[in-house]
Amino acid sequence: MLISGFDLAQLAENASQRGRQLLSDLQTYLERDYDQRCLPDFGIEKAAEIIGCTSQHIRDKEGGGILPPPRTTRVGALERRVYNYNEINQARRLLKRDTSHPASCVRIIFSNLKGGVGKTSHALHLSHYAAREGFRVLMVDLDPQATLTTAFGLVPGLSIRADEDIGPSLTANPELILRSIQRTRWNEIDLVPAQLSLQYTDWQMLQAHENDRQRLGPLPQRLHQALERVADRYDLIVMDTPPALGMLSLNAIAAADMILMPITPNFYDIASSVQYFAIVSQLASTYAQALRVRQLSLLMTRTDSAPETRTNMTLLNKAYGEFLLTNRMPQTRELQRATGDQMSLYEIEAPRGARETYLKAIDAMNAVNAEIMQHVWQVWRAAEIDQPMEIRHGH
Ligand SMILES: Nc1ncnc2c1ncn2[C@@H]1O[C@H](COP(=O)(O)OP(=O)(O)OP(=O)(O)O)[C@@H](O)[C@H]1O
Ligand SMILES: [Mg+2]
Repeated sequence: MLISGFDLAQLAENASQRGRQLLSDLQTYLERDYDQRCLPDFGIEKAAEIIGCTSQHIRDKEGGGILPPPRTTRVGALERRVYNYNEINQARRLLKRDTSHPASCVRIIFSNLKGGVGKTSHALHLSHYAAREGFRVLMVDLDPQATLTTAFGLVPGLSIRADEDIGPSLTANPELILRSIQRTRWNEIDLVPAQLSLQYTDWQMLQAHENDRQRLGPLPQRLHQALERVADRYDLIVMDTPPALGMLSLNAIAAADMILMPITPNFYDIASSVQYFAIVSQLASTYAQALRVRQLSLLMTRTDSAPETRTNMTLLNKAYGEFLLTNRMPQTRELQRATGDQMSLYEIEAPRGARETYLKAIDAMNAVNAEIMQHVWQVWRAAEIDQPMEIRHGH
């Protein structure tokens, strides 16, 4: 039945105007929240531990003017020295504790056909972990859902201009990546943000004319070519991909040295991993020339102690044993809460729940990241042997 006077065009126009207002309010709220959110402060003992020296050494160098005077906060009657990750990295550089830098930039992608397995969470945590150690990281968000981008306080579609995602560097000119790189509150981390319109990039790439292909190079290698323009500025490029194997993900695979595949030990995820490997195998034989992947690792995530989980973990071990990382990430509320607040475990100052839960979560995350970094070091060392003259010193 037709309702007289119902004007869909008018209704939709009103809704879209209200929606725009809502988004702009949301942006103000999110950006204010992000501005207020600082990197956490640590005491001198923790700062010394991260740098790898004694707290007395830091005190002496501050006294001698090698390090800048520390920030302090008052705790009762005492003035306590505090340091955040950016200050810790600056101190590390001034203390010359980072003289040797990797000879090359390692590119890692987090990839899986399945959604919700922890791709974005682990991409973010690995980057924060590496930045904490003083490495320079570029994060590339290739997922139109833009979860990673919002973790850095940017609102897709509002605070990112149409030409500021990776799209134009894949469809128009690889140099355009320079325009899309944004600084973040971490001095060591830059970000190429994503937004919903990136969905069209997949489609646009496939529409490309033959002369585009000649000008821009083979389809799957567009991202690689764009990253080549900036790779010498970073030690690590970490790419987050959508839960699909379209052109964006294929470009990420073709740009990667290492594929990290988070996998949860449940039936559907195991089934989808079979699909994933079948598709990757086809892609790899079709585009063999374009690939540079040297390592594929599976990371078991969101594990718990339920009997089915244990059985599935045993099965996964049996099937993929040699690819599985030794460390795994258990299901933990601390991670859920932190990412719900658009932060990583490394960015929260005080545990949201029990301290023990927090410490367990951070220990597990550190172990996973340390293991991934061991693999990264293997690639760095191999590059050093290949090109001994190109070892870079200093930032
Ligand atoms: N180990 C964990 N413990 C608890 N929650 C987790 C864990 N890992 C991820 N999560 C939560 O699961 C949700 C999905 O994680 P995440 O966004 O990292 O997955 P994803 O693979 O990137 O998903 P998508 O494919 O949709 O991009 C998030 O809310 C995150 O907080
Ligand atoms: Mg994601």
